[in-house]
Amino acid sequence: MRVINAKNADEAVKLAAETFIEAADARPDAPIGLATGGTMDGIYLKLKELGFRPKTQHAFALDEYEGLEPGSENSYAAELTDKFVERLGWTGTLHVPGTGHYSGETGLELLEQRLTELGPISVQLLGLGSNGHIAFNEPGSEFASTTRLVELHPATRSDNARFFPSLEDVPTHAYTQGLATISRSSCLLLVVLGERKRPALSQALTAPSPQTPLAALLDHENLTLITDQVL
Ligand code: GLP
Repeated sequence: MRVINAKNADEAVKLAAETFIEAADARPDAPIGLATGGTMDGIYLKLKELGFRPKTQHAFALDEYEGLEPGSENSYAAELTDKFVERLGWTGTLHVPGTGHYSGETGLELLEQRLTELGPISVQLLGLGSNGHIAFNEPGSEFASTTRLVELHPATRSDNARFFPSLEDVPTHAYTQGLATISRSSCLLLVVLGERKRPALSQALTAPSPQTPLAALLDHENLTLITDQVL
């Protein structure tokens, strides 16, 4: 793992955007992997500022809430359409687990299949939940897991309630790429910002276990961690 200690969040976001562009442009025909959450907001803005024009025709989302109304502004499909697809004027295909062709059990298998056919992903953006989740792989997730429907941890629902009208509106379940699915990407770019994330990050690095999903990715041959936290 390559660790880049940024002096603050702004520097981390800039380094993350530059690293993402470099890795995506190095393999222009490969799909890219997108993530959501507050940490990614700044990165997507920076991609626009740096004039990034994705050359790939395919982007895969890591995860999606289950049970939202189609087109809900809280869906990750809507968030990525707004913050990545439309902002960058990109005309490729966004593949989102649990939606459209990728609905239901067979849809999730189809997503894995499409990833295999089109992949591997050149660069996968990753954030970290304050409880240590990766995408929506909660603590205790199988390291060999693939794309599936999962129940969200109460801590995840409560963290993400800030994006919804109330906690009750946060879905209880979600679709997520599995840890094994994510580890198939050529390059993993993990961005961890803020004091709030430090305990989860430090636990995964110093005491990796089935309770720290990041542990499944620590042996990846091309994992870069960009953080504003001193480890
Ligand atoms: C959501 C996403 C995760 C992301 C996490 C961190 O739960 N499913 O993929 O890593 O948010 O979010 P934030 O950056 O808002 O702390």
